[in-house]
Amino acid sequence: MNPRGEFAIFATSTALKLGGSICQNLAAIVLHNYGNLNSRRFKVYTLQERKVIEFGEQVEKLGRIELESYKKNLFGEREMDPQITRNVNVRDKDVFIIHHHFTPDTGINLNENLLEACLFASSLKFAGASYITLVMPYYPYARGDKQHAKDGVPAAYIAKMFEIACIDRIITMDLHANQIMGFFNPRYTKVEHIYASPLILYKLKEVIGSEANIYRIGGPDPGSAKKGENYSKKLNIPLIMGYKTREHLTGDLVLKILGDVKGYHIAIVDDIVGTGGTVKKVVDVLEKEGAMDIIVACTFPTLVGPGLQIIKDLYNNGQGKLKLLIGTDAIPQPDNILNAPWYCELSIAKLMAQVIYEIHTSGSVSQLYQPEAVDQLGLL
Ligand code: R5P
Repeated sequence: MNPRGEFAIFATSTALKLGGSICQNLAAIVLHNYGNLNSRRFKVYTLQERKVIEFGEQVEKLGRIELESYKKNLFGEREMDPQITRNVNVRDKDVFIIHHHFTPDTGINLNENLLEACLFASSLKFAGASYITLVMPYYPYARGDKQHAKDGVPAAYIAKMFEIACIDRIITMDLHANQIMGFFNPRYTKVEHIYASPLILYKLKEVIGSEANIYRIGGPDPGSAKKGENYSKKLNIPLIMGYKTREHLTGDLVLKILGDVKGYHIAIVDDIVGTGGTVKKVVDVLEKEGAMDIIVACTFPTLVGPGLQIIKDLYNNGQGKLKLLIGTDAIPQPDNILNAPWYCELSIAKLMAQVIYEIHTSGSVSQLYQPEAVDQLGLL
């Protein structure tokens, strides 16, 4: 038996779609491994495999893995009361919660979603859960990772909120700054940092095809330079770098591109595309410098404020410089974006299912960071 207890999985009201998809994939992984295990059952029998069998037996019994039921009651003032359904028992269980903090598909405020996750986790702890893992691809307030002037550090404050909510582990993705992991005391909350880059690399390879020699790739600012370098090495495409700063007095974005872009197609990689200000600036500068078509890939297309319109304008019915925005379902999108000709969504559901499976069965997740994992495990 897993020392953290039997497996249980919930999705908050923010992530029923991703949660359902993770469960389907998780059931497929377990059944696949259980099948394999059956055939060599009498050869080697380690404790590790025993856990897989227990996980497998649960699936066999249920036929599939399902989200446990949960309800969010709202008072008129929008105070909320997230409740575990009465007949659901989480005592001594290893509980996973799938959650989105940012939900442009519902229009519900990020701060309210954040509180929902914390209140729900705390309810689970009161109900006797042995271990709580919050699966939250997008880390809220991640851009508040350092102190400006006399201000606080919001990303560190959020870490304390998770600790206070008795969340034992978070699984999150492509943190805006790696130092955020240091805001947590692992004695209370551990951080599992997952990368979407194997998925994005896979898609970029497919889109670029045999034309790597006429491409340049990079991030829009020094913060994304490392990301750019990683993609450049893996795709064997020369690196360019954006240097983005803001005018001290006006706050206007100033951007310079380091590297030769004239006559090349460009792939820009970033963590977030928000108001679209950064993408617009990059596309404008690249156009001025003679670049050809531009693709943008990010993990979190939040497309807030003017973001959506900016992307549409840059695409301009296929006539603009921007040809494609690649994003992931780490941010759930409304249908008008999912169906847009300029948008390509990659699902993180299989990757997250594999991560959950590894964690519950005390396996390793680092193998999932390798680009080969996408083919080997069929992550896309
Ligand atoms: C900045 O440091 C980030 O990596 C993104 O470049 C930024 O958050 C994008 O935001 P926006 O689309 O609002 O310019």
